[in-house]
Amino acid sequence: MRSILPLILVALLGSYPVYSCPHGEHSASSFEEGLEVARMNNARRAIREIPKPKKTAIKNVRVFDGEKLLPLGTIFINGERIVPYVEGAEVIDGNGGTLLSGLIDAHTHPVSVDHLELLASYGVTTTIVASCYPNAVCDSLKNHTGLTDVRFSGMSASSPNSTHALMLGLKPNETLTSASQAPQFVANQLEVGATFIKIVAERPDSATTLDQSTMNALVTSAHANDLRVACHAADYAAVERALTAQVDQAHHVPSDTPADPALISRFLAQKTVSVPTLSIFRQFVLGGVAPPSSYAVANASVTQLYQASVPILAGTDSNNLPTLEVAYGRALHEELELLVEAGMSTVDVLRSATVLAAHHNLLFDRGVVAPGMRADLLLISGDPVANISATRNIQRVWIAGVEYEGVAKS
Ligand SMILES: *[C@@H]1O[C@H](CO)[C@@H](O)[C@H](O)[C@H]1NC(C)=O
Ligand SMILES: *[C@@H]1O[C@H](CO)[C@@H](O)[C@H](O)[C@H]1NC(C)=O
Ligand SMILES: *[C@@H]1O[C@H](CO)[C@@H](O)[C@H](O)[C@H]1NC(C)=O
Ligand SMILES: *[C@@H]1O[C@H](CO)[C@@H](O)[C@H](O)[C@H]1NC(C)=O
Ligand SMILES: *[C@@H]1O[C@H](CO)[C@@H](O)[C@H](O)[C@H]1NC(C)=O
Ligand SMILES: [Zn+2]
Repeated sequence: MRSILPLILVALLGSYPVYSCPHGEHSASSFEEGLEVARMNNARRAIREIPKPKKTAIKNVRVFDGEKLLPLGTIFINGERIVPYVEGAEVIDGNGGTLLSGLIDAHTHPVSVDHLELLASYGVTTTIVASCYPNAVCDSLKNHTGLTDVRFSGMSASSPNSTHALMLGLKPNETLTSASQAPQFVANQLEVGATFIKIVAERPDSATTLDQSTMNALVTSAHANDLRVACHAADYAAVERALTAQVDQAHHVPSDTPADPALISRFLAQKTVSVPTLSIFRQFVLGGVAPPSSYAVANASVTQLYQASVPILAGTDSNNLPTLEVAYGRALHEELELLVEAGMSTVDVLRSATVLAAHHNLLFDRGVVAPGMRADLLLISGDPVANISATRNIQRVWIAGVEYEGVAKS
């Protein structure tokens, strides 16, 4: 089954969100407009009142410990951290609800502080931003105390005239044409604060994709700098190329031909994890961009990967493109439901958005509810192990011990 569909997916999945503000539509696809967006974000950080973390006791809650719900108990927060106990805490009644580690969305494209507010309101306490342009935009999303904590890749590695490069209007020196440029590209991203490297892999028959040797060299350079590599790969042949390059995370899943044992054995052999982003595949179908069969194939790829025990991380590809919007924050709850529908257990789905997402992004201070960990917490009513949709029953959210005031009521 070969169609032009995978090319369309590559074009759209690699695209940059449009920034919209109350004064009308502003495309941030130009470098200069991106700088303006960054200035606005930095200005908002400067005027924001910095909330103080406090001493808090959350009583009468069942904690999801990564495997199961524990009996009713109390969790203490002192400042930014979870602690075994603290004297003089403000007591909050969890009313028999469930306390989860704050959710991690492993693939998003927030652009403004408003997007961080939305993520926070839905209990997404950490997000992995899967490409920046210009880098100043990602940088301006850092360090908004009390809002979602951001990790980012820097610019995506792509080739000149690729759909990705054309959409963003990348300059020639912002793309790669040979393996020899990989060390400098990685060094440039490190310099602007990247915590991982993102590569865009298209099908090998695309005239404008990175060649295999450049992809390989990017991974070698990233690993030499202790950076993990995430690779955009939305069709079978692109995933093969990503695996040949030894990437750590394959983002999106084959939607042209389902993942099969030959492909999956390579994931397992080299410990590559999958970030399926079913939400964006569903959005393609809902938006009439792709036929329903493509969703069914993506879904089948997830089923196969999961059954073979390839670790899966929850990611949405949240963006604010008018035609393909995937809602910041809310979409992660949808993604969890879609992963359950693809055959994952609710426990594994909860792990995909907490402990596994933290671990595979080298964030060892979060992802589990335990003393010493960052106090990133999501209090919900109901039992998400019995029914994953319970994660939508958001009661309260804490980010590094600071309670987020405007939680989403969904
Ligand atoms: C980040 O915020 C803290 C206050 O919470 C401040 O002390 C620090 O200087 C800020 N750093 C940057 C890079 O903005
Ligand atoms: C990119 O496209 C332009 C215009 O078609 C062409 O002049 C240029 O040679 C291309 N660059 C590469 C590296 O293919
Ligand atoms: C690329 O070139 C432009 C000038 O065209 C320069 O402003 C920019 O800093 C360069 N970027 C990198 C990553 O070297
Ligand atoms: C997704 O896969 C699961 C497990 O095979 C199946 O039950 C479900 O119907 C599939 N959903 C779609 C939309 O294809
Ligand atoms: C889970 O809860 C939702 C919302 O209350 C409900 O629509 C759905 O049927 C439930 N699913 C299961 C498997 O019980
Ligand atoms: Zn993306």
